[in-house]
Amino acid sequence: MLITNIKALVGVHPKETYFLRGSELNQLPVLENAWLLLENGLIKDFGPMGSLPSSSAKLETLDAKGRFVFPSWCDSHTHIVFAAPREEEFALKIAGKTYEEIAAAGGGILNSANKLQNATEDELFESASIRLKDMIKQGTGALEIKSGYGLTVESELKMLRVIQRLKAAFPIPIKASLLAAHAYPAEFKEDHQGYINLIINELIPLVAQEKLADYIDAFCEKGFFSLEETALILEAAAKYGLKPKIHANQLSVSGAVQLGIQHQAVSVDHLEETDEEVLTSLSESNTIATLLPSCSFYINIPFANAKGLIEHNAIVALASDYNPGSTPSGNMNFVVSLGCIKLKMTPQQAINAATINGAAAMELSEQVGSIAIGKRANLMITRPMTSLAYLPYSFGQSQIETVILNGEIYHG
Ligand code: NIG
Ligand code: FE
Repeated sequence: MLITNIKALVGVHPKETYFLRGSELNQLPVLENAWLLLENGLIKDFGPMGSLPSSSAKLETLDAKGRFVFPSWCDSHTHIVFAAPREEEFALKIAGKTYEEIAAAGGGILNSANKLQNATEDELFESASIRLKDMIKQGTGALEIKSGYGLTVESELKMLRVIQRLKAAFPIPIKASLLAAHAYPAEFKEDHQGYINLIINELIPLVAQEKLADYIDAFCEKGFFSLEETALILEAAAKYGLKPKIHANQLSVSGAVQLGIQHQAVSVDHLEETDEEVLTSLSESNTIATLLPSCSFYINIPFANAKGLIEHNAIVALASDYNPGSTPSGNMNFVVSLGCIKLKMTPQQAINAATINGAAAMELSEQVGSIAIGKRANLMITRPMTSLAYLPYSFGQSQIETVILNGEIYHG
């Protein structure tokens, strides 16, 4: 397929650019008045309209006059496999209860776990598929999905098998993270070591044997998993080649960021609470700081210090955190808008953070995240737009007209 008359081809990074650190995030190379050739599911070539190859007349052609072409969003942090939404908590939240108070009153992760334990694999696959189709229509072309609503060996495996089915059923790259350390199940409330032993001695070996996860994750937070408990799990997972992606500093400055860096985490995610030490620790680190502004927006917690992280030369990514409790939305367009409006990122920074750096946070930079020859042709074409900034500016409204996956128009 050939796409012609593209007003701006966005994110034309050199192929060897794997991620953008610090102020490199300002650079979002754009080719104006361009064509883009897709072949065998990949980006074959591109260039200015003046250099359109004459042999292209025979090709299936899409005229993108006035439109922008972007690499698909790379959403590196989601929890889209769950049994039921939690609107009942929405009312409590509106009445002024905090995320922690709702969790302590029997809502939260344990509520989702009860429901998931009673759901079948087919039911979970069906409902997650609907969510994923919506996300794809909103421009997501690669994502990571976590377990963590099972909290028993059987149900965590069930969740991961659902993710495995999603990997096979959908035409986009998907990574899976084992997040059994999401909350202590009621029966282990007073026996943390018992649950950790279960994760280390039973779950991780089974997950590794069936190759059900790419990463290990933990909710390292006061009232959830302590630094010491998290470290035990990360060490056990490392023996099976599972690298960490950690929930860090969502509700407090806990040391979780530094712990992640020590364990060579691919990313530390959330970071709504930071201090100078956190910023310094991420400076020059290859551990990516993944920020989730939709979560801050929904549960009214501080927005992460994106500017400070960028100034400290960290690698900043943006992701949705789509889950039934803290972020009931997987719309990456809104995430990018919040990146600009609330994290004070420029449109260029936010778009880079949600594409090339999101890809890096899933170790998928060789496949997706930018417009480069040989990468997967996972793209979105906007409606006619006046400028790049119109995309995040028009928050809550999708500007995406056409989604292309593996070189073909996605009809869902
Ligand atoms: O990333 N923080 C922990 N996990 C999720 C929320 C889980 C839930 O409330 O169901 C998050 O925000
Ligand atoms: Fe999360």
